[in-house]
Amino acid sequence: MTRVSSPLGDMDPEEFRRHAHRVADWIADYLANPSKFPVLARVQPGEISAALPATTPVRGEPFETIFSDFERILVPGITHWNHPGFFAYFAITGSAPGVLAEFLSAALNVQAMLWRTSPAATELEEVTLSWLRQLLGLPSTFEGVIYDTASISTLHALAAARERTVPSVRELGLAGRDPMPRLRVYCSDQTHSSIDKAVILLGLGQQSVRKIPSDSEYRMRADALAHAVADDRAHGWQPLAVVATVGTTSSTSVDPVPAIADLCGRESIWLHVDAAYAGVAAMVPGREGILQGAELADSLVVNPHKWLFTPFDLSVLYCRHMDLIRSAFALTPEYLKTIEAAPVRNLMDTGIQLGRRFRALKLWMVLRHFGAEGLRDRLAEHMRLAQLFASWVDESPDFERLAPVPFSVVCFRARAQQSEDADRLNERILEAVNGTGEIFISHTRLDGRYALRLAIGNLHTTESHVMRAWGLIQEHAHQLRSSN
Ligand SMILES: Cc1ncc(COP(=O)(O)O)c(C=O)c1O
Repeated sequence: MTRVSSPLGDMDPEEFRRHAHRVADWIADYLANPSKFPVLARVQPGEISAALPATTPVRGEPFETIFSDFERILVPGITHWNHPGFFAYFAITGSAPGVLAEFLSAALNVQAMLWRTSPAATELEEVTLSWLRQLLGLPSTFEGVIYDTASISTLHALAAARERTVPSVRELGLAGRDPMPRLRVYCSDQTHSSIDKAVILLGLGQQSVRKIPSDSEYRMRADALAHAVADDRAHGWQPLAVVATVGTTSSTSVDPVPAIADLCGRESIWLHVDAAYAGVAAMVPGREGILQGAELADSLVVNPHKWLFTPFDLSVLYCRHMDLIRSAFALTPEYLKTIEAAPVRNLMDTGIQLGRRFRALKLWMVLRHFGAEGLRDRLAEHMRLAQLFASWVDESPDFERLAPVPFSVVCFRARAQQSEDADRLNERILEAVNGTGEIFISHTRLDGRYALRLAIGNLHTTESHVMRAWGLIQEHAHQLRSSN
């Protein structure tokens, strides 16, 4: 049947072809040279919305007009995460194979809630997550599932832990029950805030999170964890889960997972490993040890959208008891019942959401395009660049490093002169270098001290960009000191 375009149908296919070529050209030019834009958006709050009409146009507009507004109004309000000077938070990459996959995924508009609503999406997810699991050196007892973010992956992991400890929670809930011990989730004082948020949402109450002190290198103290568990048991708390982190958000420290896993095994406590950022480094020869002990965990999250060149969003939860996630969440209304004979996997059973995007496609294309070797080499290069930057900091009398550099993030700061406030000086350095439009770095606090954070993870970033960042930071630190 030939497609005849209808006045009430979609955009004419030939018109689509024309615009798609134009958009592809725009993306290719953008990816060829993202640094033609300032990395950090320079607009004022409200500026973008003020430039846009307050209501939907009554009549449809030509794509040329829409695209020109995209370039004129929206692009200036974009902070460019694909810019080689993006060194803030965790630097990420929307790589070209991933972008192509997103294009195809939007065209197919697959909604993979059931196996039959796109068998390829379900089965590709299984195959791709098995590839990734092997790259990370995790055993096949881990079943994987894709969610949007690590926050959601962790939420599901802790829901499974709750399901194991209080199986009646699905029917009876937690509120108003007597007797019901308070449940405890342990994590270090460096753990990401997504743990607190999951606990809030699971109805445990934020007081259920017990933050375990970390050592001088920001790693959870296993002895303090053991003490906390014993203390809680003695006071009527029921330990529910421990969250250990491989690559903490501030300093990328690695908790002692083997010792924590040992304790969790003895105490029958669910162990969730948050390897959202750094887990992928386990595929680099010589770095396999970072996931040592994780094979004993009950669940582990890793985010290909952080440091595996996959366009946002894509987070993977590996779990050794996916049946618990299913018993927590599977619920099939009549209209979703299917007659598939084989034991097919319906992805809607492994989580709170019914509809789900075809995210596996982009991870599959990224893994195939770069290959295991290509991925390892790129991760190793980012770690080399971070070591190089750290060595410059260490050699400079004007700067100090504030944490070890196990991966691709360096925490450091300018040393203050006698009467200077070091925190204020570094805040001003941050604002000054970010104001150049050439680089974007972020900050954290370590031991109460304001720290600058330089994160390497974008595929466009080379040694010369890192060198330029160091030059700018030194230059602005010098100027701010002299103007004091
Ligand atoms: C260690 C760690 N875990 C979890 C998260 C949350 O990630 P997401 O944005 O995917 O929810 C972050 C965010 O940076 C993180 O650093």
